[in-house]
Amino acid sequence: MRDTLFIDGKWVASTGADSFDVTDPWNREVFHRVARGSPDDVDAAVRAARRAFDTGPWRRMSGLERAGILRKMADLIAADTDRLARLEVRDNGKPLPEAIWDIEDTAGCFHFYADLAERLDVDGEQEIALTHDSFSCKAVREPVGVAGAIIPWNFPMLMAAWKVAPALAAGCTMVLKPSELTPLTALELGAVAEAAGLPRGVLNIVSGFGPEAGQALVEHPLVDKLAFTGSMPTGAKLMAAAARDIKAVSLELGGKSPMIVFADTPIEEVVEWIMFGIFWNQGEVCSATSRVLIEKPIYDAVVGRLAEEAQKIPVGHGLADGVLLGPLVSSAQQEKVLAAIARGRDEGARVVTGGGVPAGLEKGCFVEPTILADAPLDSWVWTEEIFGPVVCVRPFETEAEAVALANDSPFGLAAAVMSADTVRAERVARALRAGILWVNCSQPTFTEAPWGGYKRSGIGRELGEWGLNNYLEVKQITAYDRSKPWGWYLKDDA
Ligand code: NAI
Ligand code: MG
Repeated sequence: MRDTLFIDGKWVASTGADSFDVTDPWNREVFHRVARGSPDDVDAAVRAARRAFDTGPWRRMSGLERAGILRKMADLIAADTDRLARLEVRDNGKPLPEAIWDIEDTAGCFHFYADLAERLDVDGEQEIALTHDSFSCKAVREPVGVAGAIIPWNFPMLMAAWKVAPALAAGCTMVLKPSELTPLTALELGAVAEAAGLPRGVLNIVSGFGPEAGQALVEHPLVDKLAFTGSMPTGAKLMAAAARDIKAVSLELGGKSPMIVFADTPIEEVVEWIMFGIFWNQGEVCSATSRVLIEKPIYDAVVGRLAEEAQKIPVGHGLADGVLLGPLVSSAQQEKVLAAIARGRDEGARVVTGGGVPAGLEKGCFVEPTILADAPLDSWVWTEEIFGPVVCVRPFETEAEAVALANDSPFGLAAAVMSADTVRAERVARALRAGILWVNCSQPTFTEAPWGGYKRSGIGRELGEWGLNNYLEVKQITAYDRSKPWGWYLKDDA
């Protein structure tokens, strides 16, 4: 396990030789310590990235050459899937099969952006037709410069990939700051970059705390672009700090994503997708469909079946066979989720099942799969992100009512609709104000497709070609044809 910072191609201790605990949420035991990056370390990392951008080879390489290194990174990650997935389980708590998915997607993300890097050689430049024939013009896409990436703890390596792969594909250099709760796999990315031959200084990784290393990165004047995934309040702070230097920002801030279920959908399908929408990854998912609106005729039946199945979810150690729900990431997150459930009770929600710590698992950061029914529309649990295995369910009577209730949120990351009537499903999908709309499913995520939110769920889109555009500037190059007439000051009056 790595325990130092990766700056300018070297593994270094923090300047203060300071470190912090890495904790296993299965038993709350500290099993490792990693370097606690200070503002000075962040400064060194940003300066290395700046040098690598301004004078290094990376942005001068062809897309094809960059693609070669990105593909090597992908292959190294894929070849190490089992070890990386086990690190993720230890650090984050998630079940191994889900961690394996994450690592496979991480490798896939590097392959995808390798292809886009290669395509930049072909379509990175575009001739612009002008109405004036004395000039010719082209639009040229260039890397935005030094990117600062700050990522959360729910999909530690995958969230790194969503930012590192497109930034490198674009020709940017960067500083990555993983969450202090899950630094291990992000640091592994440094070793992968080294082994793949990424030029030094292109990718720098500084583990550390948000208000310390994170804040220093956000405020650094030599950073051109910030990419952030995490909570809304931290995203708002980041954006305010970015305003001083007019840094470009992209933000992915989670939400309170609704699911609308119409009565024409088979109940077993409904139960499957509600469960996947909220219990996958312990519900620590930015796009979790945490508010479910169910058409009245099937409401009681769905809630009943859901409670039966939620009680059957195998909860335990992420490495244990068959486990589908691990501990939450930290004691603090466990407390936050348990407090939310208590608040929901106080506010009048009915706890259909769950609501506590599973018996026998008290030593870990566990929370039972929980269903809260009929929470008032203005209650905290119905309106705010809980970020745990807690779903709120309510009945509705008409399509218009369901759409209005679903849209009544300051967030707009994702939404889902389930109906056997495909015309209605499409109509509702278009009526919902969110960046990601799932029809007859919830959560499946594809590297090729745009990912991001409306309203307070964020700014910009990751993944797909949109993800690459986050790290590209557009330059126009306009040339005058000297054989054509011109003259404003130096007119030939003769
Ligand atoms: P957070 O938003 O504070 O942390 C995310 C990242 O931002 C971490 O790397 C952290 O070190 C960094 N950070 C924190 N303060 C910073 C600052 N002042 N300047 C720069 N970087 C800073 O989220 P946290 O505290 O880990 O979780 C709190 C809640 O946030 C969760 O309960 C959940 O509701 C939400 N969350 C949402 C996520 C999403 O994917 N949308 C991911 C993680 C958390
Ligand atoms: Mg941990």
